[in-house]
Amino acid sequence: MRIFSGIQPTGRKHLGNYIGAIAQYVAGQERGEAIYCIVDLHALTVAYDPADLRAGLYDLLAVLLAAGLDPERCVLFRQSDVREHSELTWLLSNVTSYGELSRMTQFKDKAGSARELATAGLFFYPVLMASDVLLYRAQEVPVGDDQRQHVELMRDVAQRFNARFGDTLVVPEHRIPAVGARIMDLQHPQSKMSTTTGSVEGTVYVTDAPAAIEKKLKRAVTDSGDEVRRAVDKPGITNLIEIFAAVRGEAPEEIEAELKDARYGELKSAVAGAVIDYLAPVRERYADLRGDESQLEAILADGAERARSIAGETLADVRERMGVGAPRRDRPLR
Ligand code: TRP
Repeated sequence: MRIFSGIQPTGRKHLGNYIGAIAQYVAGQERGEAIYCIVDLHALTVAYDPADLRAGLYDLLAVLLAAGLDPERCVLFRQSDVREHSELTWLLSNVTSYGELSRMTQFKDKAGSARELATAGLFFYPVLMASDVLLYRAQEVPVGDDQRQHVELMRDVAQRFNARFGDTLVVPEHRIPAVGARIMDLQHPQSKMSTTTGSVEGTVYVTDAPAAIEKKLKRAVTDSGDEVRRAVDKPGITNLIEIFAAVRGEAPEEIEAELKDARYGELKSAVAGAVIDYLAPVRERYADLRGDESQLEAILADGAERARSIAGETLADVRERMGVGAPRRDRPLR
């Protein structure tokens, strides 16, 4: 089983990202051949600052390593280091229609009403994402539900390519993580915890100090009533129970049974303690790793080399199939 996922190097990662994506990546190392890409080229599609992009990339890499991604057990690399991604994007743009890209909801949301001013890069975002996955002939793409349409597109593109040029690309499957998708903002438990749209007080960052985590959880909004149980009219308490369950690795039902006589304040203290214990070792390792940028670059260089050896083969096959470049004599495809 080959797994591929990409993660944006922008924005401080929070508890929702950690539980929903990063912890799943770590688990993916056990389930199969895992390939993880820090997608700096995708980050160019929104307004950004070049120096912040580099710093954000190191921040993210240090978080991923601190969380337990092991460069010996997975391929971890920076997208822009493997130029095959850019080239395949161009090639695949010729089996992708203008219409389907115009229907991508993420493009419509990000472009907003000023569609004429949206960059071509933003429009091509899904083609670059398809290239990321298809270059590695990955079978499984663990990524949030918000990426469903992009995964559908890459499946269509792979199928269309294979139908037109002969069997070359693997059609990947979407795998939505079971947990973490529902980690909500502590101040606005109706909305997802988010770096871009959430509140700072309602967002627990992976690198927050224990005192900050404690404060944010103690100030989390709760609901009317006094029972510690999940219910649609109790979004605040439901969120706290689900966070507690996720960090303890237990089912929410077990947490409800354990805390059925607890008060809201006791629930908050218990969740704060559990989240602090969960993130403290990550924060410590992060601090050690982040300081040594040349070591981080060495890890990226090694990952890029391994990624390139896989991506290069797929790209050579695609070029051969599409009839571009010199014909291959060593291993002609048929
Ligand atoms: N678009 C994805 C996101 O925003 C990031 C991404 C880029 C990705 N390339 C990918 C995810 C390839 C999975 C596979 O979350």
